[in-house]
Amino acid sequence: MSASLPCWWATPRSQRFSNSGLGLKPLCAAVPSERFVRVAVIGLGYVGLPLAAAVAATGANVVGIDIDPDKVKAINAGESPLRGREPGVAELVGEQVSKGRLRASLEATAAANADVVVVCVETPIDPTTHDPSYKALKAALAGLAPIVKRGALVSIESTLAPGTMEGVVRPALQRGSKRTVGRDLYLVHCPERLTTGKLLHHLAELPRVLGANDAASARKALAFYGRFVKAEIHPTDWTTAEVVKTAENAYWDVQIAFANEVALISEELGVDAYRVRDLVNTCPYRMMLLPGAGVGGHCIPKDPWLLIAPAVQS
Ligand SMILES: NC(=O)c1ccc[n+]([C@@H]2O[C@H](COP(=O)([O-])OP(=O)(O)OC[C@H]3O[C@@H](n4cnc5c(N)ncnc54)[C@H](O)[C@@H]3O)[C@@H](O)[C@H]2O)c1
Repeated sequence: MSASLPCWWATPRSQRFSNSGLGLKPLCAAVPSERFVRVAVIGLGYVGLPLAAAVAATGANVVGIDIDPDKVKAINAGESPLRGREPGVAELVGEQVSKGRLRASLEATAAANADVVVVCVETPIDPTTHDPSYKALKAALAGLAPIVKRGALVSIESTLAPGTMEGVVRPALQRGSKRTVGRDLYLVHCPERLTTGKLLHHLAELPRVLGANDAASARKALAFYGRFVKAEIHPTDWTTAEVVKTAENAYWDVQIAFANEVALISEELGVDAYRVRDLVNTCPYRMMLLPGAGVGGHCIPKDPWLLIAPAVQS
């Protein structure tokens, strides 16, 4: 283990989750494990809306914030504005809105009283340069920083290029709020891993990587995510979490491309690509994918560009 890793990183998980091991008692100003915690979710898309509804279902008081008036209107009417088949999302949104635990707002100031703020806005790449495009992220942080409550936990779930927490998120929050991360403001990067079509299932069942650069932020975030994540939560630092998220999607991109390249070669040579794949996978430790339509969807085509962004920019 690197000597620079914080000491809490190596704590056994059972201790990280137990109140006694974490010393949650002194964190009274914004204890995310409390049932009636106030939560703001900024960005109500495929990541933010299921999260907001799932957190509301734990008894929290949740406000979702979005710049899209149609989304805000639909959610306040108890409907899900998400397109595609998303089992359980519309029902959960309707239920939580009708119980008064979930509402949506166009106002950034609606996050002012939140104990926990989760940022889930889009982080695309520029179509020409492939550089990260942080317009939405910077706007969300600019709206949040002046009003964020002292002692609040801010979690960035949006996918980030390595170095963004340190170089963009922390400075924007500290400058705008006049607070110090780790002292009177707590900041983590907990990248989302869900896949469309299985949003609620993945939200609860997939292991999470939780990047924190100080022990208090890590403890608060473990308590918050422990409310609804049933799988392992792996604490680490900000940059490792950024690299893990973008690397896991770059890995998938490479595997999909490799299977398709082999299929093209097989076709050229007049052999059966599926048979080739089956036989490759009889070799130990080989798990070649089936060839298919190619890389697509929201994240896989762009996240490899986020992974290499620091190298490209330097
Ligand atoms: N969609 C997925 O399957 C998926 C999976 C894992 C991670 N992610 C990552 O999660 C992040 C969000 O993805 P998504 O699919 O939910 O995006 P999305 O486009 O569906 O939703 C983003 C929402 O943020 C809103 N928004 C933009 N700027 C805002 C601002 N300043 N204030 C408030 N709201 C604002 C938009 O109107 C939109 O509703 C991205 O970084 C993405 O890479 C997405």
